Amino acid sequence: MDRVELLKQQAGIEACIYVKNGMKVGLGTGSTVKHTVIELGRKINEEGLEIVGIPTSLATEKLAKKVGIPLIDLAECSHLDVVIDGADEVDGEFNLIKGGGAALVREKIVAQESLSMIVVADERKMVGVLGAFPLPVEITPFAYQSTINQLAKLLDCRVNCRMSGDNPVVTDNGNYIADAHCGPTINQPVYTEAEILKIAGVVQVGLFNNMCDVVVVAKDSGVEVLTNPNGRMV
Ligand code: A5P
Repeated sequence: MDRVELLKQQAGIEACIYVKNGMKVGLGTGSTVKHTVIELGRKINEEGLEIVGIPTSLATEKLAKKVGIPLIDLAECSHLDVVIDGADEVDGEFNLIKGGGAALVREKIVAQESLSMIVVADERKMVGVLGAFPLPVEITPFAYQSTINQLAKLLDCRVNCRMSGDNPVVTDNGNYIADAHCGPTINQPVYTEAEILKIAGVVQVGLFNNMCDVVVVAKDSGVEVLTNPNGRMV
């Protein structure tokens, strides 16, 4: 396993300390939280942990089933106790860019329904100002080029439709992803999120503001737990 993969695994496994018997647990998407899902499966099978999971993507649903996590539908529960998810960037205020894996809509719905949000990340994800990672925006296929033009005008940057070969990437919700190459300039993420959401054709934006309570960040020197002083877990 290479260094970064090892860091992802360390963060992913450490985050399981936030999962207790009886909890309804949101299961995020991506190559870091994958390790959390695998570890939760192990704990269920080997240690008798009793939880139910709510996946944030079809890919995570498949993995969770494979490792033996019982799943329920979000519609079947009033709230989730915790969601554990990855991030593409985390700023000093615990605001996030997510959606590198094209799962941002389901991830945001699940995070919104959760009493707490734990982010798992390796140290490369920690930034001063958001935006070096292209900001993912889920958009409708209808008139997607017009929506992309509106985004480019608003953000004053290049915006691409995410492609898989010759075709646009299609999300689990049947939509497309626009990636906005803002550069590290998103220093008012709450404002930027609100402005993007005003554009017709935008389904959701991968800015997760004021949602994250804890970041479990793996560094070469060890795993560090950062608690949001304005979050729900202080
Ligand atoms: C999925 O849409 C994303 O929000 C991921 O959670 C994010 O891209 C982090 O993924 P990695 O852990 O694979 O970097």
